[in-house]
Amino acid sequence: MNKELAKNFFSCKNISIDLGGREILRNINIDIKPGEVLGIIGPNGAGKTSLIEILSGRYKQKTGDVIYKDQVINDKPLYERARMGIGRTYQTPVVPEELTVGETLKAARQSTKPYLPVTDAEYAADLVKFKVSWDMANTKLETFNRRKLLMTSVLMREPDIILMDEPASGLINAEIDEIDNTLRMLSKEMNIAVLIVEHRIELLETIADRVVVMDAGEIIAEGNLEDIINNPKVKEAYFEG
Ligand SMILES: Nc1ncnc2c1ncn2[C@@H]1O[C@H](COP(=O)(O)OP(=O)(O)OP(=O)(O)O)[C@@H](O)[C@H]1O
Ligand SMILES: [Mg+2]
Repeated sequence: MNKELAKNFFSCKNISIDLGGREILRNINIDIKPGEVLGIIGPNGAGKTSLIEILSGRYKQKTGDVIYKDQVINDKPLYERARMGIGRTYQTPVVPEELTVGETLKAARQSTKPYLPVTDAEYAADLVKFKVSWDMANTKLETFNRRKLLMTSVLMREPDIILMDEPASGLINAEIDEIDNTLRMLSKEMNIAVLIVEHRIELLETIADRVVVMDAGEIIAEGNLEDIINNPKVKEAYFEG
């Protein structure tokens, strides 16, 4: 990808949305490049998940544009954005309760046309070190393996960007370290753009190239983590708010 295209790889401009009769997001502008890890932090209720819902195509914004590879994609639904290379994960890792791991991965392979070969699923499982037996019932999976199953389903489609909503939620420190290593590999070796929403700022320390801070539906700061932590606005809204 040349520099000019990389400039317009993925961004949103002037995004706002009302939910339940209230303005939840106001004038949100972000951009991310291939291979970059962008952290979005903010306290509970800041609007982080709502933003991911808009970027992934599940919610429709009131104003503004979502741009991907130089194209305005406002009218593309979730499944189409997924097909175009925009993957996402959810804050709560919900897996189909009635299926086994193997059946889930098969369904994921068959959600594309043409169907993906089983080797693509195996490759994606390898990337995230997802090692359980494919005969295992999904209901038996712990949180970490649920997250890995969903990541495998996303990665087999070879996304160019992954939008992740609190991927570390419900995990212990050793698991978080493993996720960080995986995300570093995906971004730095495979050149995937990784947008991570997180409410604990310390979790982004080792992984984010750049951080955007949201509070009450607005972006209040942006930069590297050190600048963010020392920003008085952030201290007030985030640490003491
Ligand atoms: N579908 C909805 N209808 C009405 N209000 C909503 C809806 N979704 C979110 N909200 C409200 O929008 C605000 C932002 O919610 P959102 O889930 O985007 O925040 P968040 O930053 O992801 O929070 P958390 O850190 O708790 O996950 C909250 O006040 C929430 O109650
Ligand atoms: Mg959220």
